[in-house]
Amino acid sequence: MGYHWVFIILFLSISCLASALVDKSFKECMLSRVVGSNSTAIERILLTPSSSQYTQALDSLIQNPRWLNSTRKPFLIITPTHVPEILAAIACSNKLGLQIRVRSGGHDYEGLSYLGNAPFVMLDLINMRSVAINLTEETAWVQAGTSLGELYYRISQVSNTHGFPAGLCPGIGLGGHISGGGFGTMLRKYGIAADNVLDAHLIDKDGMVHDRKAMGEDLFWAIRGGSATSFGVILKWKIRLVKVPAIVTAFTIQRTLEEGATKLTHRWQQIADTLHPDLFIRVVAQNSGANSKTITTIFNSFFLGGIDRLILIMNGSFPELGLQAKDCIEMSWIQSVLHFGGYNKDDPPEVLLKRTKSNNFFKAKSDFVKVPIPENELEGIWKMVLSADTLALMIMDPFGGRMNEISEPDIPFPHRKGNLYNIQYMVIWEENNIEVSNKHVKWMRMLYKYMTPYVSKSPRAAYLNYRDLDLGINKLDNTSYIEANVWGEKYFKGNFRRLAEIKTKSDSINFFRSEQSIPLLK
Ligand SMILES: Cc1cc2nc3c(=O)[nH]c(=O)nc-3n(C[C@H](O)[C@H](O)[C@H](O)COP(=O)(O)OP(=O)(O)OC[C@H]3O[C@@H](n4cnc5c(N)ncnc54)[C@H](O)[C@@H]3O)c2cc1C
Ligand SMILES: *[C@@H]1O[C@H](CO)[C@@H](O)[C@H](O)[C@H]1NC(C)=O
Ligand SMILES: *[C@@H]1O[C@H](CO)[C@@H](O)[C@H](O)[C@H]1NC(C)=O
Ligand SMILES: *[C@@H]1O[C@H](CO)[C@@H](O)[C@H](O)[C@H]1NC(C)=O
Ligand SMILES: *[C@@H]1O[C@H](CO)[C@@H](O)[C@H](O)[C@H]1NC(C)=O
Ligand SMILES: *[C@@H]1O[C@H](CO)[C@@H](O)[C@H](O)[C@H]1NC(C)=O
Repeated sequence: MGYHWVFIILFLSISCLASALVDKSFKECMLSRVVGSNSTAIERILLTPSSSQYTQALDSLIQNPRWLNSTRKPFLIITPTHVPEILAAIACSNKLGLQIRVRSGGHDYEGLSYLGNAPFVMLDLINMRSVAINLTEETAWVQAGTSLGELYYRISQVSNTHGFPAGLCPGIGLGGHISGGGFGTMLRKYGIAADNVLDAHLIDKDGMVHDRKAMGEDLFWAIRGGSATSFGVILKWKIRLVKVPAIVTAFTIQRTLEEGATKLTHRWQQIADTLHPDLFIRVVAQNSGANSKTITTIFNSFFLGGIDRLILIMNGSFPELGLQAKDCIEMSWIQSVLHFGGYNKDDPPEVLLKRTKSNNFFKAKSDFVKVPIPENELEGIWKMVLSADTLALMIMDPFGGRMNEISEPDIPFPHRKGNLYNIQYMVIWEENNIEVSNKHVKWMRMLYKYMTPYVSKSPRAAYLNYRDLDLGINKLDNTSYIEANVWGEKYFKGNFRRLAEIKTKSDSINFFRSEQSIPLLK
């Protein structure tokens, strides 16, 4: 007994002392590297678990409170406000043998931007949000910590006929989103966010910044959809803005099973990817929580034009939906951003600048569909969705259009021609309880298994930005390429090998690593 206590006390004091020493060395390292800085300035941006702002900084962006209980939290949080502090933080982590995790918007489904096997430094880019738009060139330089909502808002402040083709949720960060692909209502017209990147500033493990020219075309290829986090830290992107009409249109039509949802969804599968590229109609199929009696399918649409042309197109391509002018709302592009972002289109657009956290627990997975699912099989799928003991949904995003014109190896994101639509499965609950969590996660795995016959095969593809650690986890920092290929080919298909080759050349010590980072070729 006595021996035990001595041992524990000794162990505690050694580990506390050790961490205090590392804090101190980290601070000294930062001081020596940030020219013109001082102790107070460095302390302000460096949070240890004992600092009063640590928990607030860590939890402020949380989207999935499943990870709040985690013990794999950062050893230090750095919240830089200037570029030299970022460069120093990376170089000092490397020098002191600490791992690094970068967080831009914190939306990672598995929390990989802020959880890891200790000890690691979390680099929080929340204060790195400058947006410089050049309308003459129709481009913008945007720092990685900028949220989609802020980018869309800044564009709308200078033009009502420009936009950017990326995701719907305003709080998503540009660092993770673009480096994992990034798609939304304009993907059929303009492709994904990563297709619209012209240049970038990437920071290496020694704190050196490389633009496109300096990093070379291989590395520039890899960071556009290949998980930039495996290659360095993105400081900013140069993006191409796209043209949008001054008036766009949105409509939402809902049908329950009794109202013919199955037939309509079946028909939608046959035409959604062939529609005019100005038109995006997605289907959200959902139960209404535990014990629900029916599935509701929501045909949630965005059109780059006015009502009259939309009605004409719908009458020709999808008359079964029975769309009428009264179902449609005309609005500006920024109002459509509010509408699809969960706000009211007439809300002040400044709400897009807000960073919010979410109290809903969830587990998600993704699939791609290449052949329409037969009507009677859809009925079986609805039964499965009804069997969930909580809210469950399938978000089906149509591909086709511009997506068919870009070849698979063009950037690491490979899901192009031949895919009718993407499915995102989501199960959502409110109880903070490990048993409840386990039950719903288990249910999600069962649904995924059930879907096997209906979705892409060899590989069964998945979308990196809907990260799913069920697909595979790197072995203790020493995963072989062959082992990682199990999850790698799902996200990247034939592009995975090139990613591993580039990784091996650009980061041979595997400094930038995580549960699903690109492995070295060995
Ligand atoms: C509510 C919600 C809605 C979503 N809607 C969509 C959608 O409409 N369309 C879509 O395509 N996706 C959507 N997503 C998924 C989203 O695109 C991904 O989660 C994306 O990776 C989030 O980027 P982030 O910067 O917010 O996340 P983070 O958690 O900050 O980062 C995600 C990953 O990228 C790395 N990373 C972050 N910043 C950098 C950087 N500067 N340099 C290098 N690596 C970095 C992180 O380390 C981590 O591995 C949604 C997610 C949520 C939670
Ligand atoms: C330390 O740096 C901060 C920020 O640059 C500055 O405002 C402050 O005056 C400096 N303090 C001292 C003691 O130099
Ligand atoms: C915008 O781009 C044009 C064309 O490249 C260039 O001449 C101009 O200086 C840029 N404007 C700004 C403000 O950077
Ligand atoms: C829809 O198409 C039908 C036949 O193709 C035509 O008779 C009808 O006028 C069209 N309606 C509209 C609103 O265009
Ligand atoms: C989180 O921790 C609390 C308190 O220990 C516990 O009751 C709860 O089940 C945990 N939740 C999850 C999702 O692990
Ligand atoms: C990593 O794995 C290889 C074989 O896959 C092995 O030879 C090597 O010793 C391992 N290295 C470490 C550091 O574990």
